Amino acid sequence: MRNIIDKQLWQEIISAVSFSGEVTFMEPMKAHTYLQIGGPADVFACPQDTVSLENILAALNEERIPFVTVGGGTNILVKDGGIYGAVISLKNFRRSDIVKEEKDMLLLFAESGMPLQKLVSFSKERGYSGIEGLAGIPGFLGGAIAGNAGAFGYSIKNALVSVRMLNPDKGIYEMSPDNIGKLGLEYRASKLPEDTVVLSANMRFRKDIKEDVAKRTNSFLKRKRETQPLSEMSAGCVFKNPEGASAGRLIDEAGCKGMRIGNVEVSRMHANFFINKGDAKASDFLKLMDEVKKKVVKVFGAELEPEIRIMGRDVNR
Ligand code: EPU
Repeated sequence: MRNIIDKQLWQEIISAVSFSGEVTFMEPMKAHTYLQIGGPADVFACPQDTVSLENILAALNEERIPFVTVGGGTNILVKDGGIYGAVISLKNFRRSDIVKEEKDMLLLFAESGMPLQKLVSFSKERGYSGIEGLAGIPGFLGGAIAGNAGAFGYSIKNALVSVRMLNPDKGIYEMSPDNIGKLGLEYRASKLPEDTVVLSANMRFRKDIKEDVAKRTNSFLKRKRETQPLSEMSAGCVFKNPEGASAGRLIDEAGCKGMRIGNVEVSRMHANFFINKGDAKASDFLKLMDEVKKKVVKVFGAELEPEIRIMGRDVNR
């Protein structure tokens, strides 16, 4: 395997196909994650359209170069050595359109780079019910689908009708209402293969009284602001809730609030959030996860599983 994908190699790979969009090399991932942690990606590409995305994935596949897709970078921890291969950003895919409107419902199409909060605001302003509980969750639609983002008993799964995807082997295909179950959307998880990119989705909303939707959305956001450190650098909840328990409460009651390694600290507001206090290292974040896990096992006998997606290489290559 090659060590690194540099500019020259990239040009050889991409020269045969048509590609429009921005490409940078050795791009620091800390600039693309909410945590603001992470070493450089060999190649960071933002295709402008679906054809460019298809072409780039096919070329990478042909050369057996791995890629990962990122959306808002909200739920990921990139290691300090950065990412081998290509990071594909879908930030240019943010079109949306009303597909169908009936008396009681609205069918909306949106591309995966659409910020989730734009969708939440749109529904709130028009009185479309279905995603009120997603208020305040950062990131893009694609990532929200891949991780089945949710809060307060709501999840993106409940609004989804169909999802269009792209896979280097299969090309573009759609999970329709009949087979959308195969996406395996469960609590903060999906069965989406690593090499499959979410392109867009159709979502169904129920028409409701505008003021009621706004009231619910605002109250969920208020609860979130009161209980979660939304303005600090974090990746959201670090661990999944074990069956019937709150990881945050377990971490808190195990005495971990304020625990710190390097510049990473367990939030004093909500213990399942780890905060980058400034220029933190991924290695310290991982060490803190380990320490917290050990404490929770010791006190409660509960094994915490990460909710965040950890990716990349360690520093010593
Ligand atoms: N609690 C503590 N100490 C803490 C944190 C929580 O005692 O440090 C207690 C709370 O007082 C409450 C209970 O634990 O009695 C549950 O807390 P909370 O309502 O904050 O819910 P959670 O289970 O900790 C989950 C999701 C959040 C989501 C909220 C609201 C997971 C891992 N966490 O948190 O999602 O916003 O419910 O629905 O599923 C995320 O996925 O990134 C995330 C933050």
